[in-house]
Formats: sequence, C-alpha cells, structure tokens
Amino acid sequence: MTTTATVASLDDIGADPPDLTNYWHPVLESAEVTADAPIGFELLGRRLVAFREDGQARVLEDLCIHRGTALSLGWITPEGCIACPYHGWEYNGDGRCVRIPAFEPGSPIPSGAGVKSFATTERYGLVWVALADPVAPITEWPSGEWEDPNVEIWYSHRYSWHASAARTVENFLDVSHFPFLHDGLLGSRDQTVIGPSDVAETDYGFYVSYKALEPGGVHSPSGTEVHWEYFLWLPFSVHLRKGTPDGHSTVVSLACRPTNDDSNELFLWLSRNYDLGVDRTGFHEFTHEIMEGDRRVVESQRPVPLPVRLTEELHLRGPDAAALAYRRALGPIGGI
Ligand code: FES
Ligand code: FE
Repeated sequence: MTTTATVASLDDIGADPPDLTNYWHPVLESAEVTADAPIGFELLGRRLVAFREDGQARVLEDLCIHRGTALSLGWITPEGCIACPYHGWEYNGDGRCVRIPAFEPGSPIPSGAGVKSFATTERYGLVWVALADPVAPITEWPSGEWEDPNVEIWYSHRYSWHASAARTVENFLDVSHFPFLHDGLLGSRDQTVIGPSDVAETDYGFYVSYKALEPGGVHSPSGTEVHWEYFLWLPFSVHLRKGTPDGHSTVVSLACRPTNDDSNELFLWLSRNYDLGVDRTGFHEFTHEIMEGDRRVVESQRPVPLPVRLTEELHLRGPDAAALAYRRALGPIGGI
C-alpha cells in the first residue's frame, strides 16, 4: 500500500468544519490504474484523472492548465508522466509540468505550469482519494474479517447507480423494506413489524444492532433468531453483519464513490466464516438480485440528494432509527 497523505487532526485544518472533501473516497479498482494509460473519473462533481507513476497510484485534476483540455485523453510518457493530448505538456504525479514540447529543451518552465494533485492511497484492492486533508481513516471490517484466515472475504460486485451516494447508503441501512423489496430473500410479508434497535455513536460513525426472527422461506431455518448489525463509517462505507445462533457470520460491505450530485459508484465485498471453499455463485446471484431490487427504488427517490434536515420527509421512531442516525451524522458534513 502506498499513501501520499496522512490523516490530519481538526486542529491542522483550521476552523472550517470538515465536509465531504475531508474524507477518503473509493474511486477505482487498483487494477484500472496503470502506467499504460490515464483513466478519467469524477468525484464529488470534480473531473479527475488517475495513472500509475513508479508503481504508485496518482490522481490529478483532469484539466490541463494551458487550455483546459482533459488530461485523461492523453498518454503516459516513458518517464511516467501524463502528457496532455493537445500540445503535449507533461505533468508528473505531483501535478508539476516538467516539459513543454514547444520550448527548446532545457528552457525554464513557467512557475504556474501545474495542476492540482490529490491525496491517494490503495486499500482493499481499490484506489481511495481525499480532495482535502482527511479527518477520518478508511473503513475497517467489524471484526478484522479482512485479515482473518478463518473468514473468506472477497470483492464481489460493482455498480453505477443514478442516485446519490447518501440515498444509496441509507437504503443499505434500512431494514423495514426487507419484507417488500426482498420478499422471500431477506424478509416476508407475513412479518413486517420492526422491533427495537440499539443505536450507538462511534468514533467512525455509528453502530446499529437489531434482532429479528427469521421468517419462513429465507435462508436460515424459519424462527431462527438473526442478529443484524450495521457499522456505518462516515460518510459512505457500511458493513452489514448477519449473525445466527450457530455462529455463522455473514458480512456484506459497501463503499460508495460520490461521483456527483446524482450518481454514485458502489463497491461491494462479501465475507462469511462458513461454507469455506464452497462455490460462491449462489451467494453472488442472491446479492445481485437484492441490489437490483434496491436500485430500482433508490434511483426513483426525489429529491435526489438525501435531505439531512429532519424536518424534511417523515420519519418513524423505531423502524427508521438507523436512517435517523445517518441523517443526523451526515448533516454537519453536508449531504449529497
Ligand atoms: Fe494541454 Fe495545451 S491544452 S498542452
Ligand atoms: Fe435492500
């Protein structure tokens, strides 16, 4: 893993309260960022470009200072710089222009010839970017599943949704839709009442715990007490752990890239401490079916941004406990 920035304390970044730019966001799969060609993407409505320099993922503003051309249309030079496709200016991973082909070799480069570079690191097979000094670490798994040799964990799905990242994450936290959107998969129309849940603030966001009896027709035997737990890492990472009395633990993890105001990129991982070595196809298809059911609804929600003021929309004490916690937590750093 390579990192080009460390986590800053609130004191370091002055009086401005942190906003979404002050968090790490997953942007691309590590394998997509190469030394062969630049790749453009959007984060929080900002056009960025990624490439690999000396093995390290680098991310710059996708905008040549000369005439505003997208650097992602360019190429990587043998020296590992990114070259603009228009007049060939070359920028290194720090965003400094190191060559202007229209000048004689050795001519001084104008001091303003540069583009902004951003803090970039790699974790869990993805590239993560922070647009300003990060105030929080990248998410970790609830019980160290990522490093646990007794757990199988793998990157499983990726989606682009025409929905805000916050609406997407809130849906992931919502249990009372299970009997409707996921009837027969995660819930049943015969059992729609939501019992009490515990919500606790944590240093990374919050934790929600909720117990329910497994309805008939879903994966565990009917009547099994299932323990659902959510670990929400602000702003857009969440782990959902399903535990059953036989010690089986399943974790579905989501991290979203807030692409812009009305779209986001979803990265998913699955883990389980049972059925080790067993074919994963069924688990994948099951997860995909659930995500597709969610997508249809979340993409329909209006307004597109998640309203973080609690006076907007109508909330139920109890069934909406996790959503309320999310809106409260997201409010100070700004919703999307
Ligand atoms: Fe990039 Fe001219 S616009 S080099
Ligand atoms: Fe769902």
